[in-house]
Amino acid sequence: MRRGEFVAVMGPSGSGKSTLLYLLGGLDRPTDGDIVLDGHSLSRLDDDEITLLRRRRVGFIFQFFNLVPTLTAEENVVLPLLIDGQDVRRHVDRVTALLELVGLADRRDHKPDQLSGGQQQRVSIARALVMEPAILLADEPTGNLDSKSGTGILELMRRSCDELGQTIVMVTHDPKAAGYADRVVFLKDGRIVDELRGDAAGDTRLILRRFAALEEGDVLG
Ligand SMILES: Nc1ncnc2c1ncn2[C@@H]1O[C@H](COP(=O)(O)OP(=O)(O)OP(=O)(O)O)[C@@H](O)[C@H]1O
Ligand SMILES: [Mg+2]
Repeated sequence: MRRGEFVAVMGPSGSGKSTLLYLLGGLDRPTDGDIVLDGHSLSRLDDDEITLLRRRRVGFIFQFFNLVPTLTAEENVVLPLLIDGQDVRRHVDRVTALLELVGLADRRDHKPDQLSGGQQQRVSIARALVMEPAILLADEPTGNLDSKSGTGILELMRRSCDELGQTIVMVTHDPKAAGYADRVVFLKDGRIVDELRGDAAGDTRLILRRFAALEEGDVLG
């Protein structure tokens, strides 16, 4: 993945998409090979160093938001700074800017159960970006949203890439979602077997055809 690139990862269920994300983000460790993240070779780091790198350099977004239910939207966004032992007062402007970026400045004091699914996912994006991570990893970020909310999330991710230069890797089953990326990588049985880039990576029907070919086990052309 190049810096500043938005990559979508597609593939049949069980092809290893989530595993790939967990490996990239240092949540899991490979039995073989190496991952270089932000200039750090993960195989050379011990568990504490990986934990620190993950906390500071990796943002995660999941299908089910994973917000802390007892905290407000703003507190959820601030949480990674607190966990990292930072003085939150020094980052007030960044937190406010992020809440504005995700369109929730007026909902900052709401708890997750007072927010829609799309709004909760916006909070989780702001939370994932608050440490200014080298990479944002998203596992089916629109998988639990209606299509309108999902579109809002994808537009937000696209903007994070275009305006903040955020590097993003997003796993998705949805060709429309993949169409927002700069590059679509197809996995099968744990291997990259196909790829679309440039205009082809924005062609939803082409993405669907390539994806369907994988699921059917067809020979790729
Ligand atoms: N902790 C684990 N230990 C051993 N095998 C695992 C583990 N987690 C997943 N697997 C296996 O690794 C393979 C890839 O799983 P993974 O969850 O990465 O697939 P996926 O592409 O994300 O699928 P889905 O689209 O259903 O989310 C599967 O065969 C799965 O059963
Ligand atoms: Mg998965």
